[in-house]
Amino acid sequence: MTSYQRAIVVGASSGIGLALAEELARRGAQVALVARRADALERAVQVIGPERARAYVHDVAQRDAVPALFQQITHDLGGLDAIIYAAGSMPHTAPDGYDTAQDAAVIETNLLGAFAWLNEAAARFAHTRQGTIIGISSVAGDRGRRGNPAYATSKAALTTYLEALRNRLAVRGVTVVTIKPGYVATDLLAGEQIPRFLPVIPPDQAAREILDAAMKGQAVAYVPAVWGPIMRLVRAIPSRLFRRLNI
Ligand SMILES: NC(=O)c1ccc[n+]([C@@H]2O[C@H](COP(=O)([O-])OP(=O)(O)OC[C@H]3O[C@@H](n4cnc5c(N)ncnc54)[C@H](OP(=O)(O)O)[C@@H]3O)[C@@H](O)[C@H]2O)c1
Repeated sequence: MTSYQRAIVVGASSGIGLALAEELARRGAQVALVARRADALERAVQVIGPERARAYVHDVAQRDAVPALFQQITHDLGGLDAIIYAAGSMPHTAPDGYDTAQDAAVIETNLLGAFAWLNEAAARFAHTRQGTIIGISSVAGDRGRRGNPAYATSKAALTTYLEALRNRLAVRGVTVVTIKPGYVATDLLAGEQIPRFLPVIPPDQAAREILDAAMKGQAVAYVPAVWGPIMRLVRAIPSRLFRRLNI
């Protein structure tokens, strides 16, 4: 089982990313927390402890700023063992909503920001021949459901990008982990109708399961694991039937 001494969490001001930063610190890591909300990051640093955590205010849409900030963080941490890309947004999409600006913003945050941060990490780890890259994708990327077309697309693309990174970097001793959470009780789900029979887990449970999977070197992990069989079933539904189902 690997352990991480120095880690970056992008999207660490709330929800799953915040829980991951807390869990990483609990497991002994120094953590750099990256997100836009300075006040939320500062609160997180106080909770985790300034000796274990540092805040870096950054909007992932500012891709040109990433190389210098990545260098600064790795310098401040004295190296890097793991990076987690957890930043994401899922704005409400009405059933008859087709909003190109909103869709582009989703791709910018969920996908292009991941390219900017994880490409930096990939180049560094390919050189140092060690390291772990963890991308928080989603079960939403496994199928084109009606609900949030741009969100599902961003996650399907993120899953493919992470697979390609894994295939490039395996020969350099770098681990790339794709996490596909089901429902996790965070701000992202505000206003979502969740069927009562589907599991919703708290962010701290998600964080523990994500780090356990990554530290074991799993390539792809559904969180919680029950979403693996659920999504196998969902993927097997023929397209003609799928479009008639309100899921
Ligand atoms: N909750 C679920 O059920 C669920 C299921 C599957 C996958 N996921 C994925 O899990 C990840 C975390 O989401 P969450 O559920 O924990 O929701 P959340 O509490 O809303 O967290 C989203 C995080 O992303 C950051 N973020 C958003 N836009 C950003 C930007 N432009 N620049 C920098 N940071 C940005 C937010 O920080 P700031 O607002 O401070 O910038 C926040 O830290 C997302 O990728 C989401 O798609 C969630």
